[in-house]
Parts: sequence; C-alpha cells; structure tokens
Amino acid sequence: MAFRNVFIAIVVGFALIVSAFLLNRARPRAQTEQANAASVRASGKCAECHYRQQYSIVHEYELSAHAAHNVSCLDCHQPAPNQHGQEHHGFTIVAKLTAGNCRACHESIYQEFLRSRHAAVSWAAVYGAKGLTPEEVAYAEKFHPGYANRPPHPFTTLEGTSAMTSGCEQCHSVGRPNADGTIGSCTACHTRHTSSVAIAREPRTCGQCHMGPDHSQIEIYEESKHGVMFNAQEAMLNLNAPARQLTTRDMWVPTCATCHMSGLNGNKVTHDTSERLSYYLADPITKKRPNYEMAQANMKEICNQCHTRSLIDRVYSQAEQVVSVTNQRVTEAKAIPDALRAQGILTGKPFTSRIDFVYFDFWHYDARTAKHGAFMGGADFVQWHGNYPMLNKMVELEYLAGQMRMEHGRGH
Ligand code: HEC
Ligand code: HEC
Ligand code: HEC
Ligand code: HEC
Ligand code: HEC
Ligand code: HEC
Ligand code: HEC
Ligand code: HEC
Repeated sequence: MAFRNVFIAIVVGFALIVSAFLLNRARPRAQTEQANAASVRASGKCAECHYRQQYSIVHEYELSAHAAHNVSCLDCHQPAPNQHGQEHHGFTIVAKLTAGNCRACHESIYQEFLRSRHAAVSWAAVYGAKGLTPEEVAYAEKFHPGYANRPPHPFTTLEGTSAMTSGCEQCHSVGRPNADGTIGSCTACHTRHTSSVAIAREPRTCGQCHMGPDHSQIEIYEESKHGVMFNAQEAMLNLNAPARQLTTRDMWVPTCATCHMSGLNGNKVTHDTSERLSYYLADPITKKRPNYEMAQANMKEICNQCHTRSLIDRVYSQAEQVVSVTNQRVTEAKAIPDALRAQGILTGKPFTSRIDFVYFDFWHYDARTAKHGAFMGGADFVQWHGNYPMLNKMVELEYLAGQMRMEHGRGH
C-alpha cells in the first residue's frame, strides 16, 4: 500500500517536472532567461529617468532584439576594457561608446568587421596612417595592402579641419581608431538603440554614405530594376528575418546588404564587404583584386539564388568590358597633365591648377560612376553620368593643355 503511494507520487512528480521542463523550453527565451537582479535594476532605473526626458531612446531600445533578450542599458553603457567610466546616478557608465561595447557579445562579427575596409582603411583614406597605431596599420595592410599605410589625403590640408570634421569624417569615422584600442563603430548601420538587422538591410542606410557623384551607389540602385522592385514590394518583404536564417522567401528582391553582406539561403553572412568584390572599382585604374576568382564566385552565388547563370554571366562580361574601356580612357586622360608636368609647363602643388580638377573629376566622378553603374544595373550612370562627361572632359583637357602650352611658349 505504502509502496504503491510512494511509487505513484514519484511517477506523478517526475511527469510534472518533465512537462514543466518541456513547457518551459517551448516558451520564448526572453521569458525563460530571467534577467538577473542587476539588469532589472539597471534598465528599470535608466529607463525611468530617460523615458521622460528622451522617450525616443528608450522606445527604440524597447523595440530591439536586445530588450527581448534582456540585454540591459548597462550591458552596453558599462565601461568596456580600457574605457573610463563616469558616476551617473548611482551607476558607472560611459557616454562615448565604441565597437568595444558590442564586442564582448559579438566578438566574431567584430573580427570580420576589423578585416573589412569599413574599419581602419576607411579612416586611412582621409587621415592616412596618422592616428592609427603601427599594429592597427599592419593588421589592415595584411588584408588591404597599400590602403592603410598611406599619407593623409591632400584635401586634409587644402580644405582644413572643419571640412574634415563635419564632412569626410562623418562617413569615414565608421572605421575611426578609438581610445580603448578598438576600431570603428557598429551603429553606423544598426543605429544606437534599435540594433536592427532590418534597418541595416535598408538601402537608405548604406546610402547615407554611398551617395553623390563620386560613389553613386544609392542613386544607381534606385534606378535599377532591383531598386524599383524594392520600392514597390518592400512592405511584403520580411526585413526582420534573423541573419542566419534569411532566405529568398523573406527577401526575393535584393538590397545593398543582400548582395554585399547577407547569407541568403544558407550562404555565409559577412561583415567584410570585400569578400564578394573582384575589382578595385574606386581606383583611377581598376585592377583585379588578389582574390578575384573566389570573390566573383561568391557574388555570383548570391545572384544565383534569384537568377540563372546566363543572365549573371552576361551582366559580368558586359561590366568587365566597361572596366577595360574605362581604364584606357583614364590612362589617356592622365597622360595629358602628366606630360605638362614632365615638360615643366604644369608646376606647383596638386590642386592649384584648373587642369588638375578636370582630370580629378574625370576619374573620380565619371570613370568610377560608369564602372559602378555597369555592375549594379544603372544604365543612365554608365552613359549620362559616365561615358558622356568623360568624352566632354577629354576635349576640355586637350583644350586646357593647348592653352597652357601657348601661354608657356609666350612666357619664354
Ligand atoms: C535619476 C535619473 C537618471 C538615471 C537613473 C539615469 N540617468 Fe542617464 N541621464 C540623466 C540626465 C538628467 C541626463 C542629462 C540629460 C541632458 O543632458 O539633457 C543623463 C544623461 C545620460 C547620458 C549622456 C551623458 C553624456 O555625458 O553625454 C547617458 C549615456 C545616460 N544618461 C545613460 C544612462 C544609463 C545607461 C543609465 C542607467 C545605468 C542612466 N543613464 C540612469 C538622468 C538619469
Ligand atoms: C546596444 C547597446 C546599447 C543599449 C542596450 C543602450 N544603449 Fe544607449 N547608447 C548606445 C550607443 C552606441 C550610444 C552612442 C554613444 C556615443 O555617442 O558614443 C548611446 C547613447 C545613449 C545616450 C545619449 C544619446 C543622445 O542622443 O544624447 C543616452 C541618454 C542613452 N544611450 C541611454 C540609454 C538607455 C536609457 C538605455 C536603456 C533603455 C540604453 N541607452 C541602452 C548603445 C546602447
Ligand atoms: C550583453 C551582450 C550584448 C551586447 C553588449 C550587445 N549585444 Fe547585440 N545581441 C545580443 C543578444 C543576446 C542578441 C540576440 C540574440 C542574437 O541575435 O544573437 C543580440 C542581437 C544583436 C543584433 C541582431 C538583432 C536582430 O534583429 O536580429 C544586432 C544587429 C546587434 N545585436 C548589434 C549590437 C551592437 C551594434 C552592439 C553594441 C552597440 C551590441 N549588439 C551589443 C547581445 C549583446
Ligand atoms: C557622404 C559620405 C562621404 C564623405 C563626406 C566622404 N567620403 Fe570618401 N568615401 C565614401 C564612400 C562610401 C567610399 C567608398 C567608395 C567605393 O568604394 O566605391 C569612399 C571612398 C573614398 C576613397 C577611396 C577608397 C580608398 O580607401 O582609397 C578615398 C581616398 C576617400 N573616400 C577620401 C575621402 C576624403 C579625403 C573625404 C573628404 C575630403 C571624403 N572621402 C569624404 C564616403 C564619403
Ligand atoms: C558611415 C558611412 C557608411 C555606411 C553607413 C556604409 N558604408 Fe560602406 N563604405 C564606407 C566607406 C567610407 C568606404 C570606403 C572605405 C575605403 O576603402 O576607404 C566603404 C566601402 C564599402 C564597400 C567597398 C569595400 C571594398 O572592399 O572596396 C562596400 C561594398 C560597402 N562599403 C558596402 C556597404 C553596405 C552594403 C552598406 C550598408 C549595409 C554600407 N557600406 C554602409 C562608408 C559607409
Ligand atoms: C556596413 C554596415 C554594418 C556595420 C558597420 C555593422 N553591421 Fe552588423 N549587420 C549589417 C547587416 C546588413 C546585417 C544583416 C545581414 C543579413 O542581411 O543577414 C548585420 C547583421 C548583424 C548581426 C546579426 C548577425 C547574426 O549572425 O546573427 C549582428 C549581431 C551584428 N550585425 C552586429 C554588428 C556589430 C557588433 C558590428 C560592429 C563590429 C556591426 N554589426 C557592424 C550591417 C552592418
Ligand atoms: C544585385 C546586387 C547588388 C546590389 C543590390 C548592390 N550591389 Fe554593390 N556591387 C555589386 C557588384 C556585382 C559589384 C562589383 C563587384 C566586383 O568588383 O566584382 C558591386 C560594387 C560595389 C561597390 C564598389 C566597390 C569598389 O570596388 O569600388 C560598392 C561600394 C558597392 N557595390 C556598394 C553598394 C551599395 C551601397 C548598394 C546599395 C545602395 C549596392 N552596392 C547594391 C552588386 C550589388
Ligand atoms: C534576392 C533576389 C535577387 C538577387 C540576389 C539578385 N537579383 Fe537581380 N533581380 C531580382 C528581381 C526580383 C528582378 C526583377 C525581375 C523581373 O523583372 O522579373 C531582378 C532583375 C535583374 C536584372 C534586370 C533584368 C531585366 O532584363 O529586366 C538584372 C540584369 C539583374 N537582376 C542582375 C542581377 C545580378 C548581376 C545579381 C547579382 C550581382 C542579381 N541580379 C541579384 C532579384 C534578385
């Protein structure tokens, strides 16, 4: 009798424990992983004050995956290694955050980002190796030889500090060196408090920096079939799909992120935006990258999730033609001021003579735009913002060279 009761009690008790465990497992992680006392105290207290004063910040945070996973205000705002905290209403916080504040929980993504040109190379494009430690320069040089160990851009001195701070730096600080020894900021694409993949997948997010006559990627995208389809169908797409589960069922129209970063249908997600690029299109003369074959295969694999091989190969072979013809044009254009310099007709520092600007606009605006347009579906950019102004400026370069030769002849 007694044994039967004990037996039933044990069986029932065990069943209860198992079912509680199973039920619990089915609940979302945010409910099961109770926040620890410190995190409740932190988010609660921070939110209490800041909800009234900066509703926007607390609300954005509440919408985030971080809030859903009990990542608190203090988890980001506490001092990371090599950061100095300040006392703040009973907490020790930092107000200036870096990639170092994300790194503790996203180390492998930080490492990928660090290898990318969004890191130290971005900074070096403006300020050169200055401001970066020798180790940081050496590390970036391993992946992008020649693009980190370089002098400051001539415009830093020609245009002055305020132009650098409110201009160049606003975009290029995505890879700024931080006092804590880390590089860059993650919030350029994710924003500070939403930490959202959906926002990072928005073309306009990349277009904050990837715009204008020298890198018209957002304008090209907007006019491409992809951009048109995205604008028409954005509301139907699932931009919130978790990164490692993103499929063409969620996003059947690509944005910048899809082609350059996403791991569509099980492909590898990457924070190194060079992994799928086979040419140095931004350079005056475009060369193949050292990993040409692999990079091109990577990108074509992404196109291939939505297109057939023949369409993809056609786009690439036409675009490669544009690259090779554009290289010839830039070589011819460059020969004009080069000859004037060699002959002592063009003297003085760079960017003190009109012909320097015409040549700079030739490669930096028109030639680059033609190449970018050809790869990303921007016919108007290949033609009216690319080849046509190159034709026009070639005539102008020759005219200016003739004038300078005449004036030089008269002077002697
Ligand atoms: C008792 C109210 C209160 C609490 C609690 C509080 N804050 Fe603040 N916090 C403020 C006020 C007030 C300011 C200044 C706002 C201004 O300048 O307009 C501020 C400023 C800040 C700033 C900007 C500081 C700067 O120097 O630029 C940050 C970041 C910040 N708080 C984060 C937090 C975090 C994280 C927590 C919780 C760990 C927290 N706060 C808790 C009231 C509070
Ligand atoms: C995912 C990390 C993260 C979380 C979580 C987070 N913050 Fe922030 N917060 C940032 C970053 C990054 C900045 C920008 C700091 C800088 O300018 O260097 C910032 C800036 C701020 C500022 C100053 C912003 C301004 O516009 O003046 C305040 C205030 C602030 N956070 C409060 C909070 C509060 C309150 C919470 C919780 C409800 C919170 N943060 C949660 C990352 C975070
Ligand atoms: C205390 C740990 C912690 C810190 C610090 C932290 N995160 Fe997170 N982050 C998480 C967790 C947990 C998740 C949700 C689970 C996942 O997606 O891995 C997450 C998810 C994300 C996501 C994906 C969101 C989505 O919608 O799928 C992004 C983007 C992100 N974090 C960016 C950042 C950035 C940027 C910072 C620094 C400003 C940061 N995180 C700081 C723990 C953290
Ligand atoms: C609107 C944002 C923005 C501003 C402002 C800006 N850049 Fe850039 N810059 C970019 C982007 C985006 C690229 C990448 C272009 C590409 O790869 O097609 C770039 C590329 C470059 C490159 C070529 C890449 C390299 O590493 O060699 C140099 C050099 C450069 N920028 C220097 C500058 C300087 C100097 C200034 C200010 C005088 C400046 N940029 C202002 C966004 C900007
Ligand atoms: C805060 C400004 C900024 C934002 C936002 C930004 N970028 Fe960039 N990006 C840059 C700069 C600056 C460079 C040039 C770095 C260099 O080579 O000097 C660059 C370079 C690139 C390159 C060329 C890399 C290479 O190897 O030549 C790609 C591709 C790229 N970005 C894609 C993106 C995508 C996709 C997004 C949005 C998800 C994005 N970027 C958002 C500033 C930005
Ligand atoms: C150039 C823009 C850009 C920058 C800078 C950037 N991210 Fe992202 N990040 C993205 C995009 C786009 C995605 C979504 C990729 C996709 O479509 O699946 C993403 C996805 C993520 C995710 C979810 C990925 C996963 O595997 O679950 C995390 C976490 C994240 N980023 C953290 C960071 C951190 C930390 C940094 C700084 C070291 C950072 N990001 C810098 C654009 C950026
Ligand atoms: C349909 C796919 C696709 C979309 C969408 C797309 N790109 Fe590209 N992008 C490419 C291809 C392909 C190349 C050239 C690749 C190569 O060099 O092999 C390229 C080149 C680039 C480069 C040139 C890097 C260099 O060498 O100078 C940048 C920067 C860039 N894209 C940024 C963007 C941004 C920002 C957006 C959104 C506004 C975008 N892309 C949208 C496919 C795409
Ligand atoms: C996520 C899916 C997706 C990816 C990835 C993608 N595309 Fe597309 N693409 C589309 C859609 C959707 C259209 C519009 C199709 C239509 O009109 O039926 C389109 C249209 C095009 C067109 C215009 C076809 C025409 O004649 O109207 C070209 C060219 C193109 N894509 C090239 C590419 C290349 C090259 C890549 C890779 C660098 C790429 N696409 C990546 C979905 C994608």
